Amino acid sequence: MQNQLAAMLQDAALKIAACQTANDILNTKANYLGKKSLLNSLYSRMRELEPSERPAFGNLLNEARQKIEALLNERNNAIKEKSWQASSRSLDYTMPGVPGARGGYHPLTIVKREVDEVFLSLGFEIAEGPDIEDEFHNFDALNTPADHPSRNLADTFYLEGGKLLRTQTSTVQIRVMEKHKPPIRIISPGRCYRNDKPDPSHSPVFTQVEALVVDKGISMSDLKDTLQNFAVIMFGSQVKSRIRPHFFPFTEPSAEMDISCMVCGGTGCRVCKQSGWLELGGAGMVDPNVFDAVGIDSELYTGFAFGLGIERIAMLKYNIPDMRILFENDLRMLSQFRGELQ
Ligand code: DAH
Repeated sequence: MQNQLAAMLQDAALKIAACQTANDILNTKANYLGKKSLLNSLYSRMRELEPSERPAFGNLLNEARQKIEALLNERNNAIKEKSWQASSRSLDYTMPGVPGARGGYHPLTIVKREVDEVFLSLGFEIAEGPDIEDEFHNFDALNTPADHPSRNLADTFYLEGGKLLRTQTSTVQIRVMEKHKPPIRIISPGRCYRNDKPDPSHSPVFTQVEALVVDKGISMSDLKDTLQNFAVIMFGSQVKSRIRPHFFPFTEPSAEMDISCMVCGGTGCRVCKQSGWLELGGAGMVDPNVFDAVGIDSELYTGFAFGLGIERIAMLKYNIPDMRILFENDLRMLSQFRGELQ
């Protein structure tokens, strides 16, 4: 048995020295130290020896095991060292790093933040309301009759339990006035949802900014002044603004707001369809019925409100011809806005 052991040790030393990879080491280890190894069988065969010879032979076996383990470790370290040297030889530590791809803000985020900034500079505060609303805040309190077409399934996404996805940020007017007494001077940017098929100027999800000012003595001229200030700060000092009569259930009188076309300067072009004006959104003086719905005294207070479309502003500002482009998130489009916002 001793001869067998000595031969095995010799053999193991040769095989270990021939190992080239970490895998070779594992296999060789299994062969010489594993369950089916000669060494292991010699341990079992110790029973064949005289009891007095067993301790000495046991020691020999243990020494052999330690020797093989030491050889394996040594060879393994040498292999590791060699592969590290090989990989570091191909590394040039003086080479500049590879820059990671940098993200950027979406054009709608850029425009929304700019609009926020403009109104903050005009003394407005930012208010928020939920996207999931009820009929009271989206329609009833906004003086919208039960048979108004906008309540139709074809226009509004209804949810279970009498809830709906808000179709306009005007809901936040109600939420703010329920909680706060005048003076009120807020804007509320946010998503709105309508059951519209996507086309160049429609999307089932879109973004509005609502504005509401309520105090004693607020008049239509305050609305016009705010609109003009907004237009000049947002689009430049040469831009003019105007309002035209319109109808909304929650304002009386109601208006639509236009700014002069920044593409042609008001002389008429393809973008403004030769009219010289671009429509920005709806506006008006808060209807007394709306004040009644939220418990504000309409004899004492007046107010104006308006709603702007953020997609529309982004499309005008960046010359984007189709609203759907804003929602496709095509990196070729988005990467053009990298670095637009500090
Ligand atoms: N909520 C209207 C819409 O989505 C826009 C609007 C019109 C908002 C007049 C107003 C307003 O605050 O006074 O079409």
